[in-house]
Amino acid sequence: MTSSPAKRDLMVLGIETSCDETAVAIVGGDRRVHANVVLSQIADHQPYGGVVPEIAARAHLAHLDGLIRRALTDAGVGFDDVHAVAATAGPGLIGGVLVGAMTGKAIALARDLPFLAVNHLEGHALTARLSDDVAYPYLLLLVSGGHCQLLAVAGLGDYRLLGTTIDDAVGEAFDKVAKMLDLGYPGGPAVERAAATGDPLAIDLPRPMRGRPGADFSFSGLKTAVRQRLSAAENPHDPAWRADLAASFQAAVADCLVDRTARAITRFSAEYGAGKALVVAGGVAANASLRARLSDLAAAEGMAWVAPAPALCTDNAAMIAWAGLERFAAGQRDGLDFAPRPRWPLDMTSAGAS
Ligand code: KG4
Ligand code: ZN
Repeated sequence: MTSSPAKRDLMVLGIETSCDETAVAIVGGDRRVHANVVLSQIADHQPYGGVVPEIAARAHLAHLDGLIRRALTDAGVGFDDVHAVAATAGPGLIGGVLVGAMTGKAIALARDLPFLAVNHLEGHALTARLSDDVAYPYLLLLVSGGHCQLLAVAGLGDYRLLGTTIDDAVGEAFDKVAKMLDLGYPGGPAVERAAATGDPLAIDLPRPMRGRPGADFSFSGLKTAVRQRLSAAENPHDPAWRADLAASFQAAVADCLVDRTARAITRFSAEYGAGKALVVAGGVAANASLRARLSDLAAAEGMAWVAPAPALCTDNAAMIAWAGLERFAAGQRDGLDFAPRPRWPLDMTSAGAS
């Protein structure tokens, strides 16, 4: 390859294996998703009520080759049509990350293609540029199973942490509440379904951090309060009461997210100007009632509201291919000696974020 094609003509193969989804995608610089295959391991982990890292890594290993073949077939292309290979290289469950990153490196080596080691969080952070072509800078609320962060996305590779959780991630709280209510795994969608028939005002629950300065989150007290309401309930197995508890929990989470995001908007707008976009990303951003509350907040604050389709919010490889494509188009490359990172904060200036 002598002259490099324009960004819109690029095509990148992406691989995602950092948690319990084995995913491969092929994405174009014109923002077309040519292939996007996701194999969920839900059934493998269901008996354990959560993700078992060893099982996840073995399942990635068993299925990744076949999924890569399927993605190429879906897109109607071969390795020769692809300009680079991008793979999640952290943060996440290291066994799975190693499987995806090593496979990506092997393809890059065998086909003489550039390799991009992508930060999974950067994949979530840039999804809105793939789905909606959002311009920098924007304010990002990243809510997933492992993270709950507010970030100023000022440019490619330029991320500033405005707030983070001081204990549990929001998805983790959904998963734990689902477990308490015997709703099974994965918890978020199950709690959302249960909440649909419940009354969000029925059960009094705390809103940790609400009204406090800064934009940090806390969910562990809310989770404990749910447990206490359950053990104090007269009839904890009544389905209607359980629906009320799920709905009340979801409403409390929404209030916390809205309060903290409103604080971050003030800081963000002071620095970057008013009227920019509020973007949500990560698995929890698939929740319709949270999306509705946050979109109301964006409208009230005069911000544009961007929420990628739920399938692009939960883990997928299109976001990894896209983040790789953005970095490749900016002239960046990673060596085949890149060491995968179980912890890898997006804002490298902030200690403790992962
Ligand atoms: O981004 P993601 O797919 O994986 C991580 O990188 O963590 O997020 C998974 C998290 C899980 O905690 C899951 O329960 C939660 O996202 N989640 C939801 C919903 N769908 C997935 N939480 C609330 N409502 C949903 N509809
Ligand atoms: Zn994720």
